[in-house]
Parts: sequence; structure tokens; C-alpha cells
Amino acid sequence: MNTLIKSLTGLGLGAALTLFAGNAMAAGGGCGTFTNAEGVEEHLLCSEAPIDFTNKGSLQNGAKIFMNYCAGCHSAQYVRHSRIAKDLEIPPELVEKYLMVTTDQIGDHITAEIDPEIQASWFGAAPPDLSLETRLRGDDWVYTYLLSFYEDPSRPWGANNLVLANAAMPHVLHNMQETLSQEEFESEVGDLVNFMAWMGEPARHDRQVIGFFVIIFLLVLLIPVYLLNKEFWKDVK
Ligand code: HEC
Repeated sequence: MNTLIKSLTGLGLGAALTLFAGNAMAAGGGCGTFTNAEGVEEHLLCSEAPIDFTNKGSLQNGAKIFMNYCAGCHSAQYVRHSRIAKDLEIPPELVEKYLMVTTDQIGDHITAEIDPEIQASWFGAAPPDLSLETRLRGDDWVYTYLLSFYEDPSRPWGANNLVLANAAMPHVLHNMQETLSQEEFESEVGDLVNFMAWMGEPARHDRQVIGFFVIIFLLVLLIPVYLLNKEFWKDVK
């Protein structure tokens, strides 16, 4: 029985630690280092991406921005348009009309409009598939990256990035940034990254909610298990 208690406590603690470690990993760390105008190396902290899968409006707006500004070059090969319609609660007709820029079958995955190999010859690097990008780099990294483009006439596309020095990607949100206030721009990019995080793990919100209740359940279970243990051993001394 003691062993059972130990393993149960171990399990609960282990699960709790994993949860915290996961959060710490996602939150911690800088986004990159860059040399400022004075030639001094500066550390760039990540801004926190506003991730909220319960905010369907934000996810829908993010999907719209992704399909219109990113899917020309980047694929998201693990995501089907039909899943976007279902999970983001967008009527399939609207997905077909406004979000399917690279295919005409709603069951298809998101493919890039322009062949990645041709792009590699244009940009010097092929744009990576973005389905799992937030899992690879972290939500905050992607968010900060998209907010960190700056003008740099020495680069082929006139723009550079603080997070990814000499990035091959042009500043595709330039016009959006020009026409919006900083706050509005950050909110649009926040929606985009929220959508990208959803693409990376559509079940993330459910997993976190279920994980929370599993830990509560284990903690509550500990009480009868502890009492049972006392009961079983009380005569064996
Ligand atoms: C004109 C083509 C083009 C468009 C449009 C474009 N990208 Fe890119 N993107 C690239 C290229 C090329 C790279 C490779 C950059 C490099 O390795 O330096 C890249 C790299 C990236 C990376 C970094 C990948 C990594 O981990 O190193 C992210 C994140 C990204 N793009 C997100 C986006 C998002 C979000 C959009 C839409 C707002 C977008 N891109 C639109 C061409 C494009």
C-alpha cells in the first residue's frame, strides 16, 4: 500500500512538474541577440504571444491573415481546410470562398501557392512548412519574430529581422504595419500566432483542461488511499 501511495504521489508530482516545466520552457529564454546602432550586443526578450483557443474570433482572424499573407509561400501540410471550418466554427462555404487560396478541395491540406524549390532560388532559403512552427520555436518566438522586422536597405528585400539576423523572408506584413497603430498591429499578429499555435496542436486547450482535472483527481484520490493505508496497517505493528 505504501508503495501505491508513493507511486501515486510520484505520478501526481511528476505530472505537475511536467506541466510547470512545459510552461517555463515556453515562457523562458530570450528571442535572440543583435548588435544595436552603437555596435553593442543587445539581448532581445521575447514578447508574450496572446494565445487563447477559446477566442474563436481571434482564431478566425488569424486564419484569414495566414491564408492571405503566408500561404503564398509557406505550406501547412498537416492542416486540412475542413478542420479549420470545423474547429474554428467557420461555415464551409466561407472557408471555400475566402480561405482556400491554394486549392479547390476543402479536404486538402494547406499547400504553398508557389513551389518551395522555385522560392529557394529566389530567397536563398526555402520557406519552411509552418504547421509545427510554434512547437519548434515557441509561440513567443514566432510572435516576436513577426514583430521584429525593420528596414535595412543592405538586404535584398529591404528588410531585416532582429530575431533572425539576415532572414531571407521579406517583411510581408509591411503594409499592414504601415496602416495600423502599433497596438492594432500587435493585435493582428497576436491573432495570427494564436492561429499558428492552434495549427501546431489543435487539441492543446483540451489537453490543458483535462490535465488540470487529472491532477485534481489524483490529489483527491490521495485522501481515501491514505486513509485505506492507515486502516490496513493499523493492526500490523
Ligand atoms: C514571399 C514569401 C514569404 C511569405 C509571403 C512569407 N514568408 Fe515566412 N519565410 C519565407 C522564407 C524564404 C523563409 C526562410 C527564412 C530564412 O531561413 O532566413 C521564411 C521563414 C519564416 C519563419 C522562420 C522559420 C524558422 O524557424 O526559421 C517564420 C516563423 C515565418 N516565415 C512565418 C511567416 C508568416 C507567419 C507569414 C505570413 C504573415 C510568412 N512567413 C510569409 C518566405 C515567406
